[in-house]
Amino acid sequence: MSTIPDRLSRLAVKHRTDKGTMQPKNNPLSPKRYTPHYNKLFSEMREQPITLFEIGIAHGYSLKMWEEYFPAGMIYGIDTKDSKRFDSKRVKTAICKQQDQAQLTALLAGIDTPLDIVIDDGSHVPADQIASFEVLFPALRFGGYYAIEDLHTHYVDADRLSTGMSFWSLLLANLNNRVKNLPIASIKFYRGLVIIQKSKRKLKVSTA
Ligand SMILES: C[S@@+](CC[C@H](N)C(=O)[O-])C[C@H]1O[C@@H](n2cnc3c(N)ncnc32)[C@H](O)[C@@H]1O
Repeated sequence: MSTIPDRLSRLAVKHRTDKGTMQPKNNPLSPKRYTPHYNKLFSEMREQPITLFEIGIAHGYSLKMWEEYFPAGMIYGIDTKDSKRFDSKRVKTAICKQQDQAQLTALLAGIDTPLDIVIDDGSHVPADQIASFEVLFPALRFGGYYAIEDLHTHYVDADRLSTGMSFWSLLLANLNNRVKNLPIASIKFYRGLVIIQKSKRKLKVSTA
């Protein structure tokens, strides 16, 4: 285990999530290798009292990884299934469909916002990811990170692929053209993963 270079990847092994770089024990899913990217971006705020919101809990593996990685952080998770058994002092879960914007909005009203980090590891359906993004991105603090995982699943059919592609085009248009003036600082694509950083401050409306 000591050969794994970064802290988050070591915790991925410990807590058996497939987000790491090594095959997790008793988890048939292959490693997705997202944790080195996350570690690079998140390590400087590791000790801060951050708020992380994850869509998709399953067996609670990643919730436990985040809980240990951010020793002062609050970790919120939603899933369509009851996950209360994973609740602790710093982990709170709720039953919520990620595409249900009214329910997401109601949930946000009850937690510490703005959020520092959002991880979308839920249905992996582009239309659902867009619905969540529309509610959760505005709730992200300036400079915060919004990650969407498992983009390879967009390729299962033409409909998902075209919805996904339109979403990336819209984000790019906002980055370069400020079409809707979404405050986006950067969009980084990795294998299977996109991480969008919100601008460090509110953008001035500009058409020039
Ligand atoms: C890949 S698993 C999450 C794994 C977990 N994040 C980890 O790394 O240990 C995806 C989870 O998303 C949940 N899910 C599926 N569709 C959903 C939806 N529409 N809204 C919220 N959660 C959903 C599933 O029930 C499943 O538990």
